[in-house]
Amino acid sequence: MILRLIPLLFIVTACSLLPGGRSERASYFHTQVKPVLQQHCLQCHNGSQPVPALNLSSKATAFKRSASGRDYILPEDPDCSLLISAVQRGGTHPKMMPRTEVSLTDDQIGMLREWIEDGAYWPEGAAGTLHAQKSAENP
Ligand code: HEC
Repeated sequence: MILRLIPLLFIVTACSLLPGGRSERASYFHTQVKPVLQQHCLQCHNGSQPVPALNLSSKATAFKRSASGRDYILPEDPDCSLLISAVQRGGTHPKMMPRTEVSLTDDQIGMLREWIEDGAYWPEGAAGTLHAQKSAENP
């Protein structure tokens, strides 16, 4: 009986770590996702250049497909999201992202995966408008 309960407890605990309701999703986006995208991606992916085509400055532009027809962000499916493939590429891959000296940490990649797994909440309007931002590691 006890042995049967252990996996169940594990599932309940694991799920409670994921962002749950709408306000938790909003706070996860604002405190975790947005700062990483703003500090590591927006300097290039801001719509100012025709290439790269990915524009991460708003939900409307970020939730598009690549020229080859792949979703950059496919809610609930990080493995099919080109954004995740790009940040998980190895150090010598020509399309490894971000295209800077500073790669994302495993924690940051895990956070982005978790965000997409949980539906990739991204608000409309000013709250969901991203701008390039400097960071301590990436000045
Ligand atoms: C210094 C500029 C720069 C930064 C910073 C940068 N990128 Fe890119 N990114 C590019 C360029 C240029 C391309 C087009 C690459 C190509 O097609 O050769 C690109 C392409 C991509 C693609 C499409 C990849 C593909 O296989 O088609 C994705 C997804 C992407 N970037 C995500 C990101 C993410 C997420 C970040 C932040 C973690 C980021 N990039 C940071 C310049 C940048």
